[in-house]
Amino acid sequence: MANTVILGAQWGDESKGGTTDFLAENADIVARYQGGDNAGHTIVVGKKKFVFHLLPSGLLYPHTTNVIGNGVVINLETLFDEIDDLQAGGIEVGDRLKVSSRAHLILPYHKVMESWDDLGSSLKLGTTSRGIGPTYSDKMNRHAGIRVADLLEFDLFQKKLDFNLGAKGYILDQIGGEIDRTALLEEYHGYSQRLAPYVVDTSEFMNNVLKAGKRILYEGAQGTMLDIDFGTYPYVTSSNTTVGAVCTGLGVGPQAIDRVLGVSKAYVTRVGSGPFPTEMPPDLDEEIRHIGNEYGATTQRARRCGWLDLVALRYAAQINGFTDLVLTKFDVLDHLDEVQVCVAYQRRGEVVTAFPTSLHALEECEPVYETLPGWKSPTVDVRKYEDLPENAKRYNAYISEFLDVPVTILSVGPERTQTIVCDESIV
Ligand code: GDP
Ligand code: IMO
Ligand code: MG
Repeated sequence: MANTVILGAQWGDESKGGTTDFLAENADIVARYQGGDNAGHTIVVGKKKFVFHLLPSGLLYPHTTNVIGNGVVINLETLFDEIDDLQAGGIEVGDRLKVSSRAHLILPYHKVMESWDDLGSSLKLGTTSRGIGPTYSDKMNRHAGIRVADLLEFDLFQKKLDFNLGAKGYILDQIGGEIDRTALLEEYHGYSQRLAPYVVDTSEFMNNVLKAGKRILYEGAQGTMLDIDFGTYPYVTSSNTTVGAVCTGLGVGPQAIDRVLGVSKAYVTRVGSGPFPTEMPPDLDEEIRHIGNEYGATTQRARRCGWLDLVALRYAAQINGFTDLVLTKFDVLDHLDEVQVCVAYQRRGEVVTAFPTSLHALEECEPVYETLPGWKSPTVDVRKYEDLPENAKRYNAYISEFLDVPVTILSVGPERTQTIVCDESIV
């Protein structure tokens, strides 16, 4: 298995977690490099369902070591809850988890700051309310950021905390988000002791395992269209979700990456606000949400559903240099007479083939659809590409040809084994 990036090609929830788990059977290391517990990665094994927000999705295999890199923002409460849940279910984490000393911490006041930002702005971003934006803002601002290494030098943590409580005091008072300093210090003192054994310089760790020839999966969170630079700004998350973040979020060079898998649903979903050119009309939106069980793994919000947008997907392929595509949730379209794919946009009488920067321009874009025949038969039990219905193969081939990227994995159900491998070199 080559060292492989698994990242979202759309607006998140493409099944990066499921894909990572599937490939982790033959991996040694699984590393998260950006985002935080805004992510919700679902893995289904038999009748058991796991949802990881912060822990990498390799942990279900006892032979893997899992890394949380410096580019991730860490909510320690979530981290320890997830570790406890896994261990209660008989899955030992122990020294199989490595946490970067350089990662920044999400503190309780970050969530308060997020509601303050929401109150004071006409933009309703529809975030996951996990304090992600304020934590990355503090990181970039430099005065306020608190890193894992600071927590381990507890005097320094206390000083930085006091600076933050002072600097943010006015806002905390205004919206009744008061923080009990004594209780917080006590809680974080406990966390610092519990976290210490997991903490390493993850750049050093990653470079050592690379030299040793270990097989590595890089697990992305969110998706390309939520990237802070390339997504539908400002309706995005606060990190780079695209391929460059692997290097900056783990401290590895580009040679550490052999393959880049873009994970896409066979249609599109989006949770939260922001433009969505191929959003389906209400009846169909409802139907696909129901069949695809499209409710957020983190916030349980209903996901908006749309037809596959090849303009956006080509843009994602270009930014990330996808070597392979993973098409998930193929089965959700099984019942349709016809399937539409957006091959261009039309704006003010002109055909647009490049994804626009301006949100105003994007809002004016009408999708131009190609209609393909549906396959109208269940795919949930198919395990070999050649056994797929002809029209399902046709849909798959159309996408692959349009993007000039091979489809390497297809999924036809949430369970780990409901996966079709089209190119064995990936496993
Ligand atoms: P992630 O954030 O990219 O890891 O994706 P999520 O876990 O948030 O959302 C993907 C959802 O789709 C989860 O509920 C999965 O169990 C489910 N899922 C994954 N693959 C398939 C599939 O092929 N078919 C169906 N019906 N569901 C799937
Ligand atoms: P996974 O890894 C889908 C969306 C939020 C909101 C925007 C900003 O499971 O694919 P944030 O809390 O990050 O500041 O919210 O980004 N969002 C996601 N949507 N999947 C995710 O993660 C998401 N993480 C954030 O809904 O629109
Ligand atoms: Mg998700």
